Amino acid sequence: MGKAFGAVAGVGAIASLVAMKRTWDPLPSVKAAGFTMVDLTAAEPNVLAVEKWRGKPVFILKKTPEMVAAQNEEQTARDIIVGDDHFLVCIGLCTHLGCIPAYRPDKHDFKCACHGGEFDASGIDTLLPPPSPMEIPPFKVDGTTLVLGEAGPEYEKMKSSGITV
Ligand code: FES
Repeated sequence: MGKAFGAVAGVGAIASLVAMKRTWDPLPSVKAAGFTMVDLTAAEPNVLAVEKWRGKPVFILKKTPEMVAAQNEEQTARDIIVGDDHFLVCIGLCTHLGCIPAYRPDKHDFKCACHGGEFDASGIDTLLPPPSPMEIPPFKVDGTTLVLGEAGPEYEKMKSSGITV
């Protein structure tokens, strides 16, 4: 009985590790001299991809059409739009004390395990203690490639309207 339970628990643990690994898989990308080029065509809707840029995790989330339709103006203003697709791109660090929030695909939000803070799918803080939205890194859109580390016109527009610092 004990052995059977152990085997079942082991299978469960492996399954969740596989799921976690899949969740954290980055998209196809190339790194060069402080820039990270990410191929957005490989992104799956409502599946969080995590890239690494200058030692920090960067969340990339392709939103589903339903998620986009339900958004308000503030949320849409933070989207990176490529063709018909909307993406969240932000530094995946909680703005409270820097933990890495986890994406909850069923709720379309992020939960920070450290002190319970929450962010919506646009990276906007919705439950304290995080004091502000997750930061958007400098980016440029080149066709369907996202270039992290280079400030393009879309980023400059966000910066001038106070969406990111
Ligand atoms: Fe995220 Fe405190 S570090 S809630």
